[in-house]
Parts: sequence; C-alpha cells; structure tokens
Amino acid sequence: MAIIYLDNNATTRVAPEVREALLPFLDELYGNPSSPHHFGGQVEKYLTIARTQLAELLGCRPKEITFTSGGTESDNLAIRGVLAARPEKRHIITSQVEHSAVLVQCQELSRQGYHVDFLTVDSDGQIDLEDLENKIQQDTALVSIMWANNETGVLFPIESISQICKAHKVPLHVDAVQAVGKIPINLGSTHIDLLSLSGHKIHAPKGVGALYVRTGLRIRPITWGGHQERGKRPGTEPVPLIVGLGKAAELAHGWIDEEQNRVRQLRDMLETGLAGSIANLQVNGAGSPRLPNTLNVCFKGVEGEALLLLMDQMGMAASSGSACLADKLEPSHVLLAMGVPESVAQGAVRFSLSRYNTEEEIREVLKVIPGLNEKVLQLSKAADPVKKMVSP
Ligand SMILES: Cc1ncc(COP(=O)(O)O)c(C=O)c1O
Repeated sequence: MAIIYLDNNATTRVAPEVREALLPFLDELYGNPSSPHHFGGQVEKYLTIARTQLAELLGCRPKEITFTSGGTESDNLAIRGVLAARPEKRHIITSQVEHSAVLVQCQELSRQGYHVDFLTVDSDGQIDLEDLENKIQQDTALVSIMWANNETGVLFPIESISQICKAHKVPLHVDAVQAVGKIPINLGSTHIDLLSLSGHKIHAPKGVGALYVRTGLRIRPITWGGHQERGKRPGTEPVPLIVGLGKAAELAHGWIDEEQNRVRQLRDMLETGLAGSIANLQVNGAGSPRLPNTLNVCFKGVEGEALLLLMDQMGMAASSGSACLADKLEPSHVLLAMGVPESVAQGAVRFSLSRYNTEEEIREVLKVIPGLNEKVLQLSKAADPVKKMVSP
C-alpha cells in the first residue's frame, strides 16, 4: 500500500539528491576534517560548502552558522549559551505555544531560579506586541520566540518582534525549525540574533541542525571539548549529515516558490475540501498568516486520535498535533492557549504537506475522510480513549 504522507512537520523524507550527495562521505571520504593530513583535511572544504549553502538560504554569512545535532540542541545552545554569556541577567521572555525544545527548557530554567514570562496568545494564535514590549525589563537576558508554530503553522510577526528587541537591546532567538525552507528568510534584513533550524524538517537526515549566531553576539558553549565550530559546539563534525544538510538547504532555496505556490494550493484544496464536506470543522489559526504547508483542524465531537488510527489503516499519515504526557490523553497546549475548549481540542488533526505531495493524494484524502469522520462519530459515543500518538 502506497503511503500518503501528510506529516511533514514531524519529519520529511530525505531528498534523493541529498542522499546522493552524502553517500561518498559514508564511503571513501571518511576522514576527520580536523586531521592535519591531507586525507582528513580534504573533507574540511565540504563543511565550508555546506555552511555556505545554509548561509545562502538564510541570507547570512557562512561563519555565522554553527552545526548542531538538530533543532532541540540548537534551541538549547541558543538559550543557555546566551544566559551563560550574560550571567547577571535572569529574565527570559518566551510564549506559551513554543515547541517543547523551548517551552520545557524555559520551565526548567524557571525551576532553576530564572524569571520566565510566557506570553499568552489570542484565538488566532498571535501574541500581543505591546505585551511583549511591556514585559522587557533591565534584567531581560533574551527573548525566544518561534517563527512558525509546528502545530498550527501560525507565523509570528518576526520582523516587528525583532524591531522591538533591537530597540531595547535584548537578544532575540527565533526557533525557525518549521519556517526554514517554507517561507523566505533573509537574516541580512531582519535583526535576529540567533536562529535554530533542523535538517530533518527540510529533507536532510535526522540528527543534524544548525544555529545561526549573529556576528558580535557572544554565547558560551553548553558542552565542553575540542575547538570545532569555533568552540561553540565541540565534537567531531558528522560530515555526511552536514553535507546532506547543506544540499537540502540548496534544494530548499530553489523550492521556496514551489512551497509558496503549489504546496500552498494543495493545502488550500485540502482545507476547502474538508470544510465543504464536514460539518463543524474548525480550522485553527485561520485568522493568522500561516505556513503554506500546514493545516490544523478540529473535527468537533470526534476523537482526533481515533480518526488518525483509521487513516493510518488506510495508509494515510498525519498527526494529532498534541503531546503525549504520562500516557494520558492531553489536548494540545497550543490549542488550549488559543482558547480552544478541551473537548474541541481533542478532535485536532494536523496535516502537513511537502513538495513531494500530489494533487491525486489530496483528492484521495478528501474522498476518504468524510466517511472515516462519520465512522468515528458513531464509534466515539461508546469507545474508550484510543492509544495516544505522539506528535513532535
Ligand atoms: C518548532 C520546533 N522546534 C524545535 C523542534 C525540535 O527539532 P529536532 O527534532 O530537530 O530536535 C521541532 C521539531 O518538531 C519543532 O517543530
């Protein structure tokens, strides 16, 4: 059975060109880029190429890129790296709808004695910029805000946020794990100090990511060892993964228009088709600018997990967009923060597309879902909660 994969915010397939590009580094080009001999040294230039490919995607300088193991590490290095560099500052501002790589980290920092403000969002998933500005104080070490929400695709007004932070001379970290490759980003024209990205969200392998650190901003490493990555991130570089990330960045650069147009059209087709065939469908974040590939809906009166299981049996992969906590069905913290009632949030399903999806796939999904929705409506009257699926 061919899979219809609509869970690209969770992870993406590795692009064939990326696979091709990294294979030589699993075979003959296995040297250590830090080695003094030619065999290792020849590999170093491929790190430089990958850094340049990423810098071109982001509109920054290659030396502003630090390779990491992924989005989570980038978020940790950004936040803890800034805090360690400015130990006298003890206040952090973030939002209630961040990915757990920022949210849980900030909750932990709060337990460790930092003062953390978690900005609220309105029913469209937007923060109040005045609220952000009012919360900035002398003691503020960092503002950490995501660019695009992984569950709803809602975009925060990063340009305005960056202006506020710049005016108050507070470093801004942007978790752009879901934004990179889906919307144009130009760090040359937006005053962002740190930006996180992850390879496996842009058709590179899992286990590699990067942190952009603006020239002049001081951060401390959070792990200790060698001099790699200019001392910001010690450890032998995973060359095949980094080469793959560079190639994926180059491809993403070329695909941005496709994301903005064809992928957006497919998403809109899915949205319109579902809204037209399912009564009481709620589109979450519909009042906000959103990523072109993401659709988050609530099937009211239906357990989203049950619908996902039936979809899964038919070879269709999507996710609930909610987190798994201690084997308990927990509605999404993002939807709850947007004021979606718990009973409605239980019906959440996130569809996230990529350049590899086709119109035929969307037609197939639109053909099948209304029937599955009816089935779950009938079943859910009597059924017990269904086993939870985790959404990254
Ligand atoms: C917004 C956001 N930030 C951070 C991460 C973590 O990235 P990684 O899986 O590479 O650790 C994710 C992953 O889903 C994400 O969506």
